[in-house]
Amino acid sequence: MSILDQLLAEQTKNICQQYKATESEVGAALRDALSQNAKLSELITNSTSLKDIYRTRLFKDFLKKTKKEIYYDLRTYKKAAPNLEESHISSRERAPYVDLLFAQIDGYLEQAETILDLGGGLFPVSFPFDRYPKLKNYVWVDRDKEASELLKKAGLPKLTRQNFALGENPWHYYLPDNRTDFDFVFMLKLVPVLYRQQREVLSHISKVPFRHALITGSKEAMVKKVDIEAREKKVIEKFIREAGWEIVKRIDLPNEFGYLVK
Ligand SMILES: C[S@@+](CC[C@H](N)C(=O)[O-])C[C@H]1O[C@@H](n2cnc3c(N)ncnc32)[C@H](O)[C@@H]1O
Repeated sequence: MSILDQLLAEQTKNICQQYKATESEVGAALRDALSQNAKLSELITNSTSLKDIYRTRLFKDFLKKTKKEIYYDLRTYKKAAPNLEESHISSRERAPYVDLLFAQIDGYLEQAETILDLGGGLFPVSFPFDRYPKLKNYVWVDRDKEASELLKKAGLPKLTRQNFALGENPWHYYLPDNRTDFDFVFMLKLVPVLYRQQREVLSHISKVPFRHALITGSKEAMVKKVDIEAREKKVIEKFIREAGWEIVKRIDLPNEFGYLVK
């Protein structure tokens, strides 16, 4: 193996241990970054020891910059993906466990006529509309324009897309047929995001009228392989307490946890 191949293999392995990226994604990112760094490429070609390369400022800066690029690339919610559902990180991570999720909340959804999905992303694509014949309206609210366009193309008949930021409209704006509350509200992987980025929106969310709602968080960070379950649980449980809701059931998936509240 050439010194370049050894370097790429070793760094790919290290980065994959730290970030939720595949070896081919990391390998491509490293090769791409290296092709734009003539000085380091020359140093690698002329070296016989990986250790000597790793010690240089040139390599250290390269690695730092490339890891940062990989990190930000992974952080963007949408990535090139083989299908619509998987183009959104949250949906992609949940995809293998969608049936497991619905099996745990079926009883609550079977009677629902109106559903509100807050910060819904591409979740409506995974929603099994056929399984719930009583459902009349599935209202989706998310500020993400691209997700809205993708959902438009998906052409889901019962779906109403409301491409707004949360808090932009009062709740009655979204309620269909003169209703005063929603039968079911989804807040999937939303509360911890708002807690980090827009805490003031949480008090608006805490007043959404519903019969039942499902609030979930992630067990693992979006990009780095670190356990965030305890941290997210604390945020969500505090939010539920302050909203004055009652937990009626706990939901558990291999990479996501949730609370069904009323
Ligand atoms: C982590 S994703 C979760 C997506 C989806 N609920 C799921 O679990 O598959 C968070 C979503 O919330 C949306 N979002 C975040 N802050 C928002 C805000 N202030 N108003 C509207 N949507 C927001 C983002 O656009 C994104 O689609």
